[in-house]
Amino acid sequence: MRVLGINAIFHDPAAALVVDGRVVAAAEEERFSRRKHGKRPVPFSAWEQPVEAARWCLRQAGLTPDQIDLVGYSYDPSLVLPPEEMGIDDTWDHLRTMYAKEAPGFIADALPGLDRDKVRFVPHHVAHAASGGLAVSTAEPRSVLVCDGRGERASHLSGRYDGGRLEVLAGQRLPHSLGLMYEDLTSHLGFLRSSDEYKVMALASYGKPRFLDRLRAAVRATDDGGFVTEPIDWEELAPRRRADEDWTSAHADLAASVQRRLEEVLLDLARWLHERTGDRILTMAGGTALNCVANTVLHREGPFEKVWVQPAAGDAGTALGAALHVAATEGEPLEPMPGADLGRGFTDEEIERALRTARLPYERPADLADTVAEVLAGDGIVAWFQGRAEYGPRALGHRSLLAHPGRKANLERLNDVKGREQFRPVAPMVLLERAPEIFARGPLPSPYMLFVHDVAPQWQDRIPAVVHVDGTARVQTVDPEREPRVAALLTAFERRTGLPVLVNTSLNTAGRPIVDDIKDVLECFGATPIDLLAIGPFVVRRRP
Ligand SMILES: [Fe+2]
Repeated sequence: MRVLGINAIFHDPAAALVVDGRVVAAAEEERFSRRKHGKRPVPFSAWEQPVEAARWCLRQAGLTPDQIDLVGYSYDPSLVLPPEEMGIDDTWDHLRTMYAKEAPGFIADALPGLDRDKVRFVPHHVAHAASGGLAVSTAEPRSVLVCDGRGERASHLSGRYDGGRLEVLAGQRLPHSLGLMYEDLTSHLGFLRSSDEYKVMALASYGKPRFLDRLRAAVRATDDGGFVTEPIDWEELAPRRRADEDWTSAHADLAASVQRRLEEVLLDLARWLHERTGDRILTMAGGTALNCVANTVLHREGPFEKVWVQPAAGDAGTALGAALHVAATEGEPLEPMPGADLGRGFTDEEIERALRTARLPYERPADLADTVAEVLAGDGIVAWFQGRAEYGPRALGHRSLLAHPGRKANLERLNDVKGREQFRPVAPMVLLERAPEIFARGPLPSPYMLFVHDVAPQWQDRIPAVVHVDGTARVQTVDPEREPRVAALLTAFERRTGLPVLVNTSLNTAGRPIVDDIKDVLECFGATPIDLLAIGPFVVRRRP
């Protein structure tokens, strides 16, 4: 059975394809359209479908639209309530609902030959839940926790998967929403809401949670498995920051307070869920699950033995979740997702042809890993473009910008290359077998950069570029079985420097999506001070 999944309702439009229970393709529309997050999450944009991503998914599998058996669309307009009943202030929400109802027609228009009656509406949080509980690699029953800004009428789901079947145990209705609370704070702190929440998380580590009591009074778990989020007067706690203003300790303290309260409430939700299921494994999705600091608290202090987070935890992941849910509902046995590299890839021939067209002088080194390691060891910055692009917001060694972790200045240098704020950390990738001696108090392996680890004291001075102000690092562990090319590079770098670690950040510049195809990376290379481009088996050097 061939099931296409579509997310189009708020932001991060994406498509995914599940064939005979196997995830064969998943990609975000932003990687094709080159518009970050695909679109703004306003009702007026809800009609737009991830047209290019969906067409690519079909091409990747060699299918035509008429060969698709079912489509899962990650929003069910029949669940929406009037805005006043949901307590949300959006006079245009009915437009979103109307566009959602018409989505089967929009999708059929975009994919001529597809029968619109094949489109199934999947409740938003069920789609998120499936991207966790049906994608994880386990046969045992597992709990699932979903938190985001909002779906149709809710902002949370707690439940359990046994086989392919979801049992919903709790759900919190709007207007209460941990995700919207965090988005409101993001906007108050001068960042872009439903986009820059990770900046608030980074800022939190510079502050003290001195407003925690106020937050505890306004935001709390309830004994039915849900929670309350009362409106908060942010202005009373810290002044609104304009985007071009410097942040102060009041801003950092407010970020720290909200971050801490979010962690506490998530812990309460996880404990409530565990009391009912007794499961060993917790899977998570929803935008809040991209908060790797909170994920780590759940791993450390929560009742579950293992926490698994969908790498595309934001709304993009609901495309995959909707497809998995529809396939499971049809009784299809499912395979776990193999990794996050579910996007576009290119053959060596395609890459070489593009390099020739661009008249770029390139080499094909006998030992790619060692050639790249030499440049990194000499403190060069490397654009690393290998294999299939990542699904989700993290670069995981397929579309990455790499640097030497031993030079503290490389943090500033990379933030400058990318045009990012200087308070934002860059992350390390590390050989899986070496990770335990360097990174502690976080889950290992950690292949998707969704948790933070403490950097062992004896290593903090050796890899200063990747140690955040609070002594932590957001680690990606690299398993040679799964990622042989990245592992070979780490090994070659260690041979030269004694460090089995590299700085890894996403290959893009500020405000732009991660590069996806060959042209994107050549444009990025041409416009930024990158010393070496490693693309497939080829390298292109910056000419002096
Ligand atoms: Fe969502």
